[in-house]
Amino acid sequence: MFSIIAAIGKKNELGKNGQLVFHIKEDMKFFRETTNGHKVVMGRKTWESLPGKLPKRENYVVSRKKVEGADKTINDLNQFIKANKDTEEEIFIIGGGAIYAAFLPYAKNLYLTEINKSVDADVFFPIFDKSKYDKTIIKKGNENDLSYSFAKYTIK
Ligand SMILES: NC(=O)c1ccc[n+]([C@@H]2O[C@H](COP(=O)([O-])OP(=O)(O)OC[C@H]3O[C@@H](n4cnc5c(N)ncnc54)[C@H](OP(=O)(O)O)[C@@H]3O)[C@@H](O)[C@H]2O)c1
Repeated sequence: MFSIIAAIGKKNELGKNGQLVFHIKEDMKFFRETTNGHKVVMGRKTWESLPGKLPKRENYVVSRKKVEGADKTINDLNQFIKANKDTEEEIFIIGGGAIYAAFLPYAKNLYLTEINKSVDADVFFPIFDKSKYDKTIIKKGNENDLSYSFAKYTIK
């Protein structure tokens, strides 16, 4: 089973120039606590934006070439999706834009930190039909003048 996890702005902003556009400590903590102990899947560009492997998680990187340092490289995305979409195990899809778009049709849960601000961005979370999901708000917060909600969307 796939669960997407992302932090998005009012217009689905995700990133700019290969980096994140929002830096919220509570969100980083939520990300860490939610994904720890699980397999995480990310695109090669997101991988390159990180200082290194995410600890306590198996790091799977999607790329058409071999990725040094990753626990596993996923070359054949369709084959990976087919083999894992119906498993009990929760596998976290952690970005970026290209990888969210590829997994969105197969993801059971979307953990979205919805940030109440618009910023300049060059990568966006895909538009999705919210009526197809049940939504729960896990928690709301405020940090550095940014208000946000941790929302969980589960496919109906
Ligand atoms: N706000 C958030 O929660 C969040 C989370 C994560 C990332 N981000 C941001 O998102 C941005 C990066 O997103 P992005 O869309 O540019 O890149 P990305 O999704 O991280 O990575 C794209 C790369 O994935 C590989 N790929 C994609 N589709 C593939 C397929 N079908 N088969 C094989 N490989 C495939 C390709 O790697 P190769 O070119 O090596 O083949 C492609 O260049 C950054 O700004 C990052 O900071 C934001």
